[in-house]
Amino acid sequence: MRQPAIIANWKMYKTLTEAEEFLQRFPEELGHVSGIEMIICAPFVALASLSRQMEGTSLILGAQNMHWEKDGPFTGEISPLMLREVGVRYVILGHSERRMHFSEDDEIVNKKIKSAFTFGLSPILCVGESLEQRERGQTDAVLAQQVRKALDGLHPREEEMWGRLVVAYEPVWAIGTGKPAGGADAEQAAEVIRLALQEQLGQELPTKIRVIYGGSVNEANITEFSSRPAIDGALIGGSSLKEQSFARMIQAVYHERRG
Ligand code: PGA
Repeated sequence: MRQPAIIANWKMYKTLTEAEEFLQRFPEELGHVSGIEMIICAPFVALASLSRQMEGTSLILGAQNMHWEKDGPFTGEISPLMLREVGVRYVILGHSERRMHFSEDDEIVNKKIKSAFTFGLSPILCVGESLEQRERGQTDAVLAQQVRKALDGLHPREEEMWGRLVVAYEPVWAIGTGKPAGGADAEQAAEVIRLALQEQLGQELPTKIRVIYGGSVNEANITEFSSRPAIDGALIGGSSLKEQSFARMIQAVYHERRG
């Protein structure tokens, strides 16, 4: 059984103080939930402090981006080693906002995925089609291509390594728009992603990889996605910014999984 992952993507929101307040207000009992991975991907400057605050809880720390080199003359960049040292375990890579606003292409995403594995970080790979691609009927091809290119050159050697990968299906048109994909469409996309993983890695390993959905997920619709066998959780932007709302989404998935 794959463990569901509920992931907060705070994007460029929350100062250090606001990030710390979120965790102070986050319901104590939920900080110890088991059976769900609760991951908070915070801005870089909050990571070290949140890592200390998360000690002794089951919350997991994530970053939203990184450079692929371990160090070097890359002004303004953050390396995988720096993330590891402050206690980061997951890193979002290839988010459509980075592809769109910072010209990240599949080749860069591929370098970052390789680097994350090398330095012991778990990548959260984001893939998804634009509205135009969807309207042209290219969704499946776009997803398969993004998966293939992101994982190019990686081999199914280490089973443990692949168990750490999360792939987020994030249709670009659903992000931040309040218009999520339909549950059935998201499930179908998740199946296409898993097939693409199988083409690359063989039949067995992709059964361990979590494929989640992201794009306008909120308290009212999260179980529409998480209840589907092909979808192993959610990547949540706007609705993860309030601790009560994030907590209620975790509770909803927890109760649903316990039946
Ligand atoms: P949203 O963002 O939940 O605000 O739509 C999701 C994401 O970008 O990961």
